[in-house]
Parts: sequence; structure tokens; C-alpha cells
Amino acid sequence: MSGELDQQPISSADEDLRAALQAARLPTDDLSEDGRSFFRFTDRNATVGYGGLEHYRDCALLRSLVVLPQHRGQGYGAAITGQLLAEATCRGAQTVYLLTDSATSFFERLGFAKVDRATAPAAILQTRQAASLCPASAALLAKRVQG
Ligand SMILES: CC(C)(COP(=O)(O)OP(=O)(O)OC[C@H]1O[C@@H](n2cnc3c(N)ncnc32)[C@H](O)[C@@H]1OP(=O)(O)O)[C@@H](O)C(=O)NCCC(=O)NCCS
Repeated sequence: MSGELDQQPISSADEDLRAALQAARLPTDDLSEDGRSFFRFTDRNATVGYGGLEHYRDCALLRSLVVLPQHRGQGYGAAITGQLLAEATCRGAQTVYLLTDSATSFFERLGFAKVDRATAPAAILQTRQAASLCPASAALLAKRVQG
């Protein structure tokens, strides 16, 4: 990959976003609810993946991270995560959370650490992902991004 990826805001109704998430078995039921932003990431005009954020007062939930299968293993997942963290920081987040049941070590390598759900802000625990869409076994991870 070549440096920073191009990043375009997209609608939660974007059919290619939904198809990519469904193929990766990531939640799509709550995409259209308020307070979410989604992006398409392209490298030399080719779509390589998608990612999203849910914005809360001083934190954010990173979600819907998917690299298209043919582009995996080339650093795009790490690059998209970095760009979503920068986006969350610009929007005022001090800590970025995420839930995953399959990619914990991927995110730990990017500086996230597992946190006890009891210590997470109510806003994060009340997200549809934390409350119902992700399995109870999903790990909650956090990374401090400023402050
Ligand atoms: C997880 C995902 C985003 C990684 O994207 P990627 O572009 O392949 O990641 P990168 O190229 O930046 O990093 C690759 C490294 O991460 C590791 N990795 C990839 N997927 C992983 C996973 N699910 N768990 C642990 N490590 C993983 C690879 O083994 C590789 O390690 P290496 O550098 O030692 O060879 C991608 O596999 C994906 O879209 N998966 C399906 C959706 C998903 O699980 N999203 C995350 C939950 S929101």
C-alpha cells in the first residue's frame, strides 16, 4: 500500500458497505441509527475496505472495520484503523473503544488493550453492539487517543 489511504464519507445505506460487512459477518442491523459515520477507503482508486465510528461525548466506538478479502495482509487494516483513530480524535474523542470476537490480537498490536466492561462508560455499554448485536463473549478493547 502507498501511504495514507483516500477516505470518502459514505451513507449507512451504501450497498457495497453492507455487502462487505455481511460477508465478514459483522453487524448491519444498526447502521442507520444516529451518531454514526462510515467511510470507504481507497488506494489508487481501488476500494480496499470500510470502517465506521459511533461518536459519543468524549469517546467513540470503532466499528464496521473490514478489508476486502483480496486486499488483506497488506497493511490496509492497520492503516484504516489509524485513520479512524485520527477521525475520532478530530471529533473530540479521548478514548476509542471497540468490540471484537475474532480480531483481539490484531487490535492489541495497534495499541488497544482489553478492558473490563464494568469500567467502560455507559454510552459504550449502551451501544447496540455492546448491548445486543455482539456476542457476550466479545472482548471490549480501548485505546486512549488524547489527553
Ligand atoms: C481484521 C482485518 C480488518 C485485518 O485487515 P488486514 O488488512 O488483513 O490487516 P493488516 O494487513 O493491517 O495486518 C495483517 C496482520 O494482522 C493479522 N491479522 C489479520 N486478521 C487478524 C485477526 N482476525 N486476528 C488476529 N490477527 C489478525 C495478520 O495475521 C497479519 O499479521 P502479520 O503482519 O504478522 O502477518 C481483516 O482481516 C478483516 O476485514 N476481517 C474481517 C472483519 C473483522 O474481523 N473486522 C474486525 C472486527 S470490527
